[in-house]
Amino acid sequence: MRTAVCPGSFDPVTNGHIDVFARAAAVADRVIVAVLINKTKSSLFTVDERIEMLKEVVAPLGNVEVDAFHGLLVDYCQTHDVQAIVKGLRAVSDFDYELQMAQMNYRLAGVETLFVSTNPLYSYLSSSLVKEVAAYGGSVEGLLPHTVLGRLQDKLAQNRSA
Ligand code: PNS
Repeated sequence: MRTAVCPGSFDPVTNGHIDVFARAAAVADRVIVAVLINKTKSSLFTVDERIEMLKEVVAPLGNVEVDAFHGLLVDYCQTHDVQAIVKGLRAVSDFDYELQMAQMNYRLAGVETLFVSTNPLYSYLSSSLVKEVAAYGGSVEGLLPHTVLGRLQDKLAQNRSA
């Protein structure tokens, strides 16, 4: 496989995402982690903050780069010479929506979607759950890279004092 894209919101990136990036990087020549710029969806971290965190965590993976996109993912694939979308499937609950998107993306532009089965260690993990648990003071240690955990705690503290 030549270039693959791992798209998402990554608000913030978790160890589950990193597992998917690493596995995509093992089969593709080049992987682009693409952050969706979605002005209608509220996020904890800005796109720039998410990109900065992603760049830090993918640095050890030599063939992975980080970018942002808006609009249709298939348009991004076509303009950036991307041959496949790589997604992680955590559980059956992910399947319906992911299948719908994969079929739509194939219909729109013939772009293939490849799924990797998420490491069972992270199958229950999502950015939203991590944010919720952390916001109520629960421990999310081990679910996020250390630097991301620090930024999450700082961001939640800032929001509490605002
Ligand atoms: O991390 P998320 O928020 O679950 O990622 C969803 C994402 C970014 C993969 C999906 O919303 C997407 O591809 N958005 C881009 C717009 C688009 O192409 N929509 C049609 C999908 S068939």
